[in-house]
Amino acid sequence: MAEENILIEQTDTAEQQVRSAETIAYPRSESVDEVLADSKSVTLVIPTYNERDNVEPIIDRCLTALSEHAVEIVIVDDDSPDETWRIAREAYTNDDRVRVIRRTEESGLGTAVLRGFSEASYEFCAVIDADLQHPPEKLPELLDAFEEGTDVVIGSRHIDGGGIEGWSRFRRVVSAGATSAARLGVPEARGISDPMSGFFAVRQDILAEAELNPKGYKILLEVLAKCDPDGVAEVPYVFTERERGESNLTHDEYVKFAEHVAMLGMSSRELERFVEPERATRALEFGAVGGIGVVVNTLVFMAGRGIGSHYLLAATAAFVAAVHWNFLGNWLITFDQPENGLLGKYLRFNLVSVAGFLIYTGLLAVAIQGLGTPDLIANLAAIGGSSLWNFLGAEKFAFLPNT
Ligand code: GDD
Ligand code: MN
Repeated sequence: MAEENILIEQTDTAEQQVRSAETIAYPRSESVDEVLADSKSVTLVIPTYNERDNVEPIIDRCLTALSEHAVEIVIVDDDSPDETWRIAREAYTNDDRVRVIRRTEESGLGTAVLRGFSEASYEFCAVIDADLQHPPEKLPELLDAFEEGTDVVIGSRHIDGGGIEGWSRFRRVVSAGATSAARLGVPEARGISDPMSGFFAVRQDILAEAELNPKGYKILLEVLAKCDPDGVAEVPYVFTERERGESNLTHDEYVKFAEHVAMLGMSSRELERFVEPERATRALEFGAVGGIGVVVNTLVFMAGRGIGSHYLLAATAAFVAAVHWNFLGNWLITFDQPENGLLGKYLRFNLVSVAGFLIYTGLLAVAIQGLGTPDLIANLAAIGGSSLWNFLGAEKFAFLPNT
């Protein structure tokens, strides 16, 4: 092991990761004390980037907390300029429970955690931040919560006994928003109080079976979406303030997070149910009707401007005209149910369209003012988001409420 400590590790391919997970060796199981013999064995992954003042305290506290367990700690450091990796190596050269991986080819919290997982040789894998914001003393509780059939145990800030110290209202709102987005995009996260947690443990064998390939840094979401865990338990903890060093996660992490959630949402098993052939046809027809609707909108808008109307008036007339065209087209073509309840469908479709318009402007505001997205991309994204809403709303609310 000491030799591995001085290797500069290369990037693993997914295939290599799977392979290394298949050849689990449980290297220490024969030599561990009797105390450890029937306790759970754990590989603890600690990602680090510029944590020189925290790395020894976190390792010491984790080792103490897990003294009743067979444990290996894998530090995954991305070649920190403050030489966190060197400090860790020097302090623990003689302790074969601690391994330090210094990555030079790859970086990012998500891939760091996965790298740690791929090195795991014990029955359970846990992840904890290096900056002491997650309490190591909770680790035994996390492990104890694994019963027959439990595959994942999450340290949660949002159940009784959990909490967050010293966050501004802004950060809480952002966090709550991100949690909602995660639930929206990843159905498997829906029943979970803290799907954004960076403090969790998972049965190693379910990791080995899935191919995790995260964008962004929320590995737990990845695990929930891809590993098909049977039981998920949550254990409360209090997220404390960082005492030393600086947080590494900057604002563009929020954007990466959104992409990650969208990707997980798209690859989710729910998608199969979503894209039945009949529905795909409806979506195409809906798109075609909407495309002509855009032309109708433009014609009316230009005509209104041509006769000297205020642009807001012209836009309102154009919107109303387009909604009516869309209603007709969808009523007769897309949903093809002309028989009964015309008035109800008409009124509900109007509601959906108005809500769609609010969603469109809301998304534009968030993208342009909130995230500084360029106009063109912001507009396309807002059209995409509101069109999706319009389609689902037209289907579930206006035309086919009973399906
Ligand atoms: N190897 C590696 N590479 N480690 C990293 C990187 C990276 O690019 N970026 C951050 N880390 C390490 C840090 O050193 C720390 O141990 C841990 O990952 C969390 O990073 P922080 O910068 O402290 O993140 P945070 O406090 O904003 O976010 C944490 O809180 C979130 C809850 O709001 C993380 O734990 C998230 O996972 C958690 O969801
Ligand atoms: Mn932190």
